[in-house]
Amino acid sequence: MSGTQIRKVAVLGAGLMGHGIAQVCAQTAGYEVSLLDVKQELVDRGVAMIKDSLSKFVSKGTIDKPKADEVMRRIRPTTDLETALEGAQLVIEAASENPKLKVDLYHKVSELMSPKSILASNTSSISITLLASATKNPENVVGMHFFNPPQLMPLIEIIRGAKTSDATVDSIKAAAMQMGKETVLCKKDSPGFIVNRVLMPALNEAAFLVSEGVADPEDIDKAITLGLGWPMGPLKLLDYVGIDTALSISDVMMQGFDDNKYRASPNLREMVRAGLLGRKSGKGFYEWPSPSTTKAKASP
Ligand code: CAA
Repeated sequence: MSGTQIRKVAVLGAGLMGHGIAQVCAQTAGYEVSLLDVKQELVDRGVAMIKDSLSKFVSKGTIDKPKADEVMRRIRPTTDLETALEGAQLVIEAASENPKLKVDLYHKVSELMSPKSILASNTSSISITLLASATKNPENVVGMHFFNPPQLMPLIEIIRGAKTSDATVDSIKAAAMQMGKETVLCKKDSPGFIVNRVLMPALNEAAFLVSEGVADPEDIDKAITLGLGWPMGPLKLLDYVGIDTALSISDVMMQGFDDNKYRASPNLREMVRAGLLGRKSGKGFYEWPSPSTTKAKASP
């Protein structure tokens, strides 16, 4: 397999996905990692989530304490974009799911990064071709979509933009393998790619069931975990990935396909307006004691 030899990765965004991606890069692949966010408190929160996850792996014996310390040493937190990008052969963007914000970021990153480096987006639904069009080297831009929690979920979707080169796709396949992940290739840059095209309508439908008063959240989740064998019910999963993220994905799919079947349930928009974003804000359909937990309790 040809392509770029990766030693250092810059992860842009230290949120629910970014912190986990940085950890996988440092822990499984052994890469040097810089972890960027726009404010020190966001970087600190990302680092705290990594420490929390590593302590879970240590407590169940998956890794030992010296290995966890080594992983932490490989991760350099920063709020400076130029510092983050320095020496990185692979840049993984895990910023908020907002097309305009991402396009602005791609302009800036393209000015500062090495023209030979790869710029991979962890976007859940936004067009890779659109993001690539904001850069000087669209052949080096690709979708690299991880799943939450990146530390545990074994899949990466690779998405080819209109101008993505074969060498870029090969490099991302090799990097994913180094991270211990399986890959699938999305040959066309289609809104929602593969997984979210299937998942989001189901999650959205569960939100409609709540807004129509058909059943309580706990019963909807119980029905789907016990009836369909999902590890988490759809409303808990909405909270887990972030109501704002799920709404953005639905909106991108609605606009991309111009088809009402992707119209977001109105309660999701109301929840975002009210700051009820799920796990990351402490409350959504459920109450969440911390952003790094999987344990939620029913909202009173
Ligand atoms: N790091 C390390 N370990 C972790 C962890 C983390 N971040 N989160 C959980 N764990 C560990 C726990 O310590 C626990 O370990 P033990 O079994 O040894 O006790 C184990 O994982 C299981 O965790 P829990 O018992 O707390 O909870 P669970 O049994 O429900 O498993 C889960 C958690 C793996 C997240 C499981 O619920 C699951 O697979 N849920 C579905 C996740 C999913 O669908 N993700 C995709 C979302 S879609 C997406 O991400 C794409 C998008 O674009 C929106």
